[in-house]
Amino acid sequence: MSKELRTVSGMRPTGPLHLGHYFGVLKNWVELQDREEAYFFVADWHALTSDYADPSRIRHNIAEMVKDWVGAGLDPEKCVIFRQSAVKEHGELSLLLSMITPVSWLERNPTYKEQQQQISNKDLGNAGFLCYPVLMAADILMYRPHGVPVGEDQLPHMELTREIARRFNYFYGDLFPEPQAMLTPAAKCPGLDGRKMSKSYNNGIFLSDDFAGIQEKVRGMFTDKARLRKSDPGNPDVCNLFPYHVLLSSPEEQAEIRRGCTSAQLGCVDCKKIFLKNLEAFLTPLHERRAALDARPGAVEEILAAGNEKARAFAMSTMALAREKMGL
Ligand code: TRP
Repeated sequence: MSKELRTVSGMRPTGPLHLGHYFGVLKNWVELQDREEAYFFVADWHALTSDYADPSRIRHNIAEMVKDWVGAGLDPEKCVIFRQSAVKEHGELSLLLSMITPVSWLERNPTYKEQQQQISNKDLGNAGFLCYPVLMAADILMYRPHGVPVGEDQLPHMELTREIARRFNYFYGDLFPEPQAMLTPAAKCPGLDGRKMSKSYNNGIFLSDDFAGIQEKVRGMFTDKARLRKSDPGNPDVCNLFPYHVLLSSPEEQAEIRRGCTSAQLGCVDCKKIFLKNLEAFLTPLHERRAALDARPGAVEEILAAGNEKARAFAMSTMALAREKMGL
């Protein structure tokens, strides 16, 4: 294979992907598949660490996630798309890594403490949730990648992954390179209401939303809260919509919008029309690729079956080395 660098990443199948996922992470994945040997997986075991009490949506969410990915441009001919739980080696490596991971590292993990405090509708006192970063380290180290394209929120987990790799190499001799996080250059993607776009806030524009629904959402979208009438000059730098022009409009269009807004010539209603036009142009190819998958029964299963096979082949080679080093 002519691609010299290898990369791996995953997402938990917790629901449909929105623009924040696309511009924060997925766009990076799509670009990487051309340059690197890339493994992308649905982290269904990780979904269970918090949703263990009600797994009823998980099967549906897995298929939907694969459709969102392929819609966004991941190509199963260029990268390996697979399901974590189909490659049991992830479970074995996670177990082996848990032997050398101090519990204090896991308890100190900022993400762990934060979620324990913030999430009140689920009991996160289970061992699986505490060990989330060990499983994630196994997911990553399995493919011995140089980097991992993730969002900023995953940085504490990446740090732990490197610490676990270092400790393994120290005890048993070099096997795992210490992988770096590969962040997408900061893309600002506020939710419809100005808060962070998030499924739990119900303020997202989803990749699979139809245009009628999107029009409705955009109509109610916050802009510059201080601008009450069209005759008031607006400020794109505090506007909730303008970051989307930065992502979707041409530089000339952006300059024109800025000029029109600050001089009170372009109103928010017309500004939203430009946004809708560009959003539609952006989403149309995504919807077409998704529709092509929907039209082919068994397509998602086929993609996963082929990807699982390739991932397993790589995982088996790492496990042979890891077992050997650990005296098994
Ligand atoms: N923790 C990641 C998230 O919440 C999902 C994930 C699990 C992951 N294993 C991974 C990401 C390995 C990158 C690499 O999005």
